[in-house]
Amino acid sequence: VEETYIMIKPDGVQRGLVGVIISRFEKKGFKLTGLKLFQCPRELAEEHYKDLQSKSFFPKLIDYITSGPVVCMAWEGIGVVASARKLIGATNPLNAEPGTIRGDLAVQTGRNVVHGSDSPENGKREIALWFKGGELSSWTPAQQPWLTE
Ligand code: GTP
Ligand code: MG
Repeated sequence: VEETYIMIKPDGVQRGLVGVIISRFEKKGFKLTGLKLFQCPRELAEEHYKDLQSKSFFPKLIDYITSGPVVCMAWEGIGVVASARKLIGATNPLNAEPGTIRGDLAVQTGRNVVHGSDSPENGKREIALWFKGGELSSWTPAQQPWLTE
């Protein structure tokens, strides 16, 4: 099954947006399989964003992600990676459509409140990076027959 790694960044936690952000994914009908509040060590943030290592903003990005606790989540469902990216909206919140998380709740790229994996491969890679095996739950939501035929 397709999985994605969603993370509420430190600004989302500090601004009290944890509940509303989780609700967006929950209401859509995806399945939550992992959830924790976590103070991210620098090395993990660097590994997570290693593709951006050469960017000028990389040190600032690592400072930002490690500046306070984040909420780590694993979500599962058909098409969850692309759909979650749509729910999140464009990287620059000023370009993100109203109705998306960034479009509704943020104003700057450097404080864009949430992360979502950009491919199914990266979804698996990132979930393995941020969670230990015992932290993930395999379960069947009671509402499943009312979500998928
Ligand atoms: P993520 O879901 O967090 O991976 O965002 P994204 O996939 O929409 O964007 P990308 O992977 O290209 O960049 C990762 C993160 O780096 C962004 O979400 C921003 O937090 C940060 N970032 C990207 N570009 C810039 C920039 O030009 N300036 C600053 N300050 N931060 C940036
Ligand atoms: Mg990205």
